[in-house]
Formats: sequence, C-alpha cells, structure tokens
Amino acid sequence: MRTPEAGALPAARHLQAGFTSLVVELRHDELPTIRHWGPSLGDLTESELADLLCATRVPSTDSDVYFQEAVAVLPMHSSGWLGRPGLWGSRRGRAWSVSPERVTHEVGVRPDGSAQVRSRAEDRLQGLEVGTDLELLANGLLRVRGWVRNRAAEPFEVGGLEPALPTPSDATELLDMAGRHAHERVPQRRPFDIGAWVREARGGRPGHDSATVLVAGVPGFGFRSGRVHGVHLAWSGNQTLVAERSYNGWHLLRGGELLGSGEVVLAENDAYVSPWLYGAWGDGLDDFSARFHEHLRLGSGPRSAPRPVILNVWEAVYFEHDLDKLLELAEQAAEVGVECFVLDDGWFQGRRDDTAGLGDWVVDPVVWPDGLHPLVDRVRELGMTFGLWFEPEMVNLDSDLARAHPDWLLGTEHGPGPASRHQHVLDLSRPEAYAHVLDQMSTLLAEYAVDFLKWDHNRPLVDAGRGPAYTPGVREQTLAAYRLMDDLKHRHSGLQIESCCGGGGRLDLGVLEHVDRVWTSDCIDAHERHRIVRWTGLLLPLELMGAHVGSGRDHTTGRRHSLGFRAGTAVFGHMGVEWDLTQATESERQELSTWVALHKRFRDLLHTGVLVREDLANAALQVDGVVSPDRREGLYRLSSLDYSTTWPPGRVRLPGLEPDRRYRVAPVSPGSALAPSAAPWMVNPVSLSGRVLSEVGVQAPLLGADDLVIVHVRCV
Ligand code: DGJ
Repeated sequence: MRTPEAGALPAARHLQAGFTSLVVELRHDELPTIRHWGPSLGDLTESELADLLCATRVPSTDSDVYFQEAVAVLPMHSSGWLGRPGLWGSRRGRAWSVSPERVTHEVGVRPDGSAQVRSRAEDRLQGLEVGTDLELLANGLLRVRGWVRNRAAEPFEVGGLEPALPTPSDATELLDMAGRHAHERVPQRRPFDIGAWVREARGGRPGHDSATVLVAGVPGFGFRSGRVHGVHLAWSGNQTLVAERSYNGWHLLRGGELLGSGEVVLAENDAYVSPWLYGAWGDGLDDFSARFHEHLRLGSGPRSAPRPVILNVWEAVYFEHDLDKLLELAEQAAEVGVECFVLDDGWFQGRRDDTAGLGDWVVDPVVWPDGLHPLVDRVRELGMTFGLWFEPEMVNLDSDLARAHPDWLLGTEHGPGPASRHQHVLDLSRPEAYAHVLDQMSTLLAEYAVDFLKWDHNRPLVDAGRGPAYTPGVREQTLAAYRLMDDLKHRHSGLQIESCCGGGGRLDLGVLEHVDRVWTSDCIDAHERHRIVRWTGLLLPLELMGAHVGSGRDHTTGRRHSLGFRAGTAVFGHMGVEWDLTQATESERQELSTWVALHKRFRDLLHTGVLVREDLANAALQVDGVVSPDRREGLYRLSSLDYSTTWPPGRVRLPGLEPDRRYRVAPVSPGSALAPSAAPWMVNPVSLSGRVLSEVGVQAPLLGADDLVIVHVRCV
C-alpha cells in the first residue's frame, strides 16, 4: 500500500533558487515526487508546506493505479504507473519490475544557493539499488538524473533510464525543433494531447533534426509572454525526449539515453548513470532560455575570454589548398580585422577531396612540402591565432589507417555499414585506436601551437557495433569522444574546440562541457541564419554560436544578399568570415572591416548580455536584441525577412530595458541613418524610456526583403 496512512504526513522540502521554487515530496517508499516546479512561492512554513501537499493530493479512492497519488521523477511501473517507465531492464527476463523500498533522501544547500536532493532506494529482492539526483541550480535551472546499481552476482541489463519532470496542466501546447543538414532548427508546435510525443536520435549524435529542447506552455506562448516549462538532454549520443500526458492527469517532460540491446550490462556492483535532463521554466521563451545561457556562461577558461573574430577558409577554397592563395587570404583577413585564421578540411595526407585521407592526421607532404609552417608563421606575424580542422572519429577506407587496421572500425558482422560522405567511424573506445588518434593530433597541435580546433563529425553512427561481439557502441564512442576532447585540452592548455557536426548536428549541453563553441549550421545564408540562430538561441547564448559572413551568392541556397545583410546577421554571434576575400572588391573589404569593427565594439555586450526576442504580428519582421545585465544599454537588430504586406510595416518594440530609465536610441549599422529606407528617428535620434520603447516601440524602417538595421540604445 503506497498511500501514506491518514494523518502520517509525508516529508517534503521546499527548495528555492533563482526565482524558482521546487517542492518535492520525500517519502520512504518512493523516489522524489515534484509537487511544484515553477515561480517562487516565497517562504513557506512547515504547516504551509504540509497544507500544500494536502491541497495537491488526489482524492482518496481504492485504486492506487487509476488515482495515482504520486509519479516520481523516475516513474515506476511497480507503483501502478501505466505510462512509460523510468527504468527498464532485466536479468534475462527476471528482475524487470523494480520496486523502491527503504528510500533515503539527502537534502543539501550550497553557499551559492543551489540545492540538491540525492535519493537512494533498494530493491533487495531484485538485488538492485536505484536512485536519483535532483539539483536546483543557483539560477533556477533544474536538472535530474537517475542511476541503477547491480548488487547481485548475475548481470543486469539496463534497457533505459528516463527521468521525468511534471509540467502544469494548462501547458497544453508543445514546441520542439525539426530540421535537416544545412536547415537546422525549424520550430514545430502541436497540442500536448494524451499519449506520447517522442523525439528520438539514433545516429550517435542529437542530429540536424534534433528536438534540441522540448517545451510545454500555455497556448500561444511566445518569447516575451506565456508560462513555459521545457527540457533538454545533456548528451551527444543516441537519445529520446518525450512529452507524455496520461489519462489520469499527469503531464511529463522526459528524456534519457537511448540504449541498444546489450549496450549496458551491469556486472555485480557496477552502476549506470543517466545523462542530466535539464529543465527550465519561464514567462516566455526568453526567460526560459536565459537560465540555460546563464548556466553556460558560468566558469572561466577560454569560453569567458573575448571571442576572436575568425576566418574559416572552407567556402573560400574548399579542398584547393594552395599556399600562395592562402597567404593572400591571410593578409586580407588580417586587414579586415580577423583575429583567428582557421585552415579547414584538405590539409592532411591524401585529402584531395572527400573520398580519402580521414584517419591519417599528418600534413600532406605533396601539397605542403614544408609542412604548414609557412602559412602558420605568416598568420602569427599578422597577429592572428591559428586554427585547424579535424574529424577525429572518422576514417575513409582509402587511408593508411583503414588499410592497416580494418578491424578498428565500428561495424557489425555485415561490415562497417553504409558509407556516408565516403566515410566510416573509428572505434574510439578501442584503446589502440584512441591512442593513435590522440598521438597524431597531439603531435600536430604541439608542432603548430594550434589555438583553435574545429572538430567535425559527418557520418551518423549506423551499425555501430564494437568488439568481437559487435555490441552496440554509441555510448562508449560518445564517452571516448568526450575523453579525447578533454585529453587534448589537458595536453594543450588554452586550446579552444568548436563542435561541428556537418554544421549543427551536435550542439548539446553534454558536448558543451568539453568544447567552447559550436558551428551552428553549414548554411551561412543570412536569411536562413536568422531562423537558425534565433531557435538555437533557445539553448545557447550568442557567443557559443559560430556566425560567418559568406560570399555574395550563398553556396548552399544560391540566394544573393547584400554585404550589410550578411555581416549584420553575423554580428549577432561568434563572428567570423567564410568568403574568398581575395575575390572581394576593395570597397567590399573596407565595408566588411567596418562590420568587424562594429562587432568588436559591441562584442562584450553581445557576449554577456541577455538575449531578447520580440513577438511580432508582422511575420515579415524579426527583432533580436541583447540587453546588458545592468540594463544600461542594448543592441537590437531590426530585420526584414520578407517584403511586408503592410507598408509602412508598422512599429517594432525594443524589449528588455529598465522601464523607468531613459535611453538614447541610435542606428549604428554602417550607413543606415543615411539610407533612403531610414525612419525619422534614425535620422534624428530620440531619447525614450524603457517603458515607451517596450510598450510603444519605434516605427520600422522601410526595409526591403532581407535587409536589416542595427540599433544601439544607451541609458542617458
Ligand atoms: C562539414 C562542415 O560543417 C564544414 O564547415 C566543413 O568543415 C566541411 N565539413 C569540411 O569537410
């Protein structure tokens, strides 16, 4: 009987941090149950807490199953929960139903205000221990993970561990992302109906179609309004995110690692710990994402230093590595203000196109007879740092590595699976393969004192079996990739790593514990980037998202855009250039240097400020901004992404400012005040309160399709 005796009130704790309250019920027969997760409830006395439990208790009946008193953060079938279980697995068909008993909870509060609940339960009959860690971080971000330990001699196979966070019942609309390569982060909405909305990733990475976040909110929620709760899984391998609504009134957002059959088999005393499932709530999506951004900004290291403006040579030269050309490109890059020069794919042995070379991390002696030194030396003379591309987990069959060690590839009895971009995956969990890659990479990083490593990943993990039995290998591969990143950073202090996965296929809080930025998408079309950055920004702050200025005609979509639109788009991110500047005109290079200077002028604000996004009725317009943490200034980008039906296109609000302060509003993008499209306030700058700017707004300029203006507001 799981329902507590009448009169015997279960213990509960009220934890508060970052304007967030978490009320957890802590019983001795159940893992923690969340009674409230959301806005701060203020201080509650013991008796108010007991009354809150009573007030939220379901009517008592004779059915533990239909009238479920509690659904723990690891929901158990044994408790009568008829939805997706929180833990599943067995000892070859036995011990498949786990029943927590003698549950203990330890609650701790740290000096920074964060709080943890560590819970541990036993199932002595099944020889298992299970537990959960719930953490309310100082800024109100919540995270939960589960674990299971085998205490018996017979192995226990873990099928899955999928924690769950409850959301309010009026959050009836779901939002997550769809997408594909070079077209990531397409938002999609649907009703949060009864049943389960399941988003899975089975390619050994979250993928270009990654849900990224799964958000439930009140109908019509936007960036600035509407209560939302959402989750993200901090894991770069196979995974599941689920929105589950049960017939008996539970709304759960859940997520866990997706394990293959036989992938995790626990020997006696071994444990499996699930990745963290992060949860944030907010009044509007800006509020929700601010909690993730603050969290990602914690700590020191290269991530908190000013982000160097990058030139990546990929769309400038592709595989055509010619020293003279690259030297000229480096000169031009330095002239426009670039601070880090990144040599992309094509520099290593046999790599004349994408059919060969992956796995042989030595400089190609034919194309680079003197090594990379002539280029790297000049790059440094020009005052820039140096970056180099690798794809450490991948191998072409046409490589010395694959010829010497065909058995080092992930695969099954049928072989290494279908090629994608002519490549397969190296089993990094194999110590010899790991040591080979680590040594080759490390030698080069030391020889050229590489500052920035672009880490690519262009083949999904298909048929990724490891070892003589070809057991599913995604989990071990993911952990080995993390380890390799850490080992390289440990050996090469100050090294920055960019997570690229054919663009934005691997940008999660798991990999972000090991890298310093992501390549947001292979598509640098500025029109597309407005959407991609906006929605990737639900999770990541601007400085973690690589944003490059491409050539006039976009290489992915074929669209042509003005330099102002391309550069003004890249300013809002970790700015870079990916364009053959040797082919640009003198005036284009000059204009580009003014945009680079603009980015540097506002870099600190862009990379430490709070991201704000306006909800506009006119779908042709988009307003994105950042407001400094002290709210003394802000930088806004007013973009026109279509030719507006309403003409003039109407007003736009500038949100996020201090209501009672006055701000001077002035356009700062090169030439914008003189443009024929300028609105009167752009020619004669105005001073208005934050309240007026966020309630009344300013008239949008007469921008054409794919055009923008950047506006600075500063407290007067
Ligand atoms: C895919 C990446 O996303 C591109 O930026 C580039 O690095 C290519 N791979 C190189 O092969």
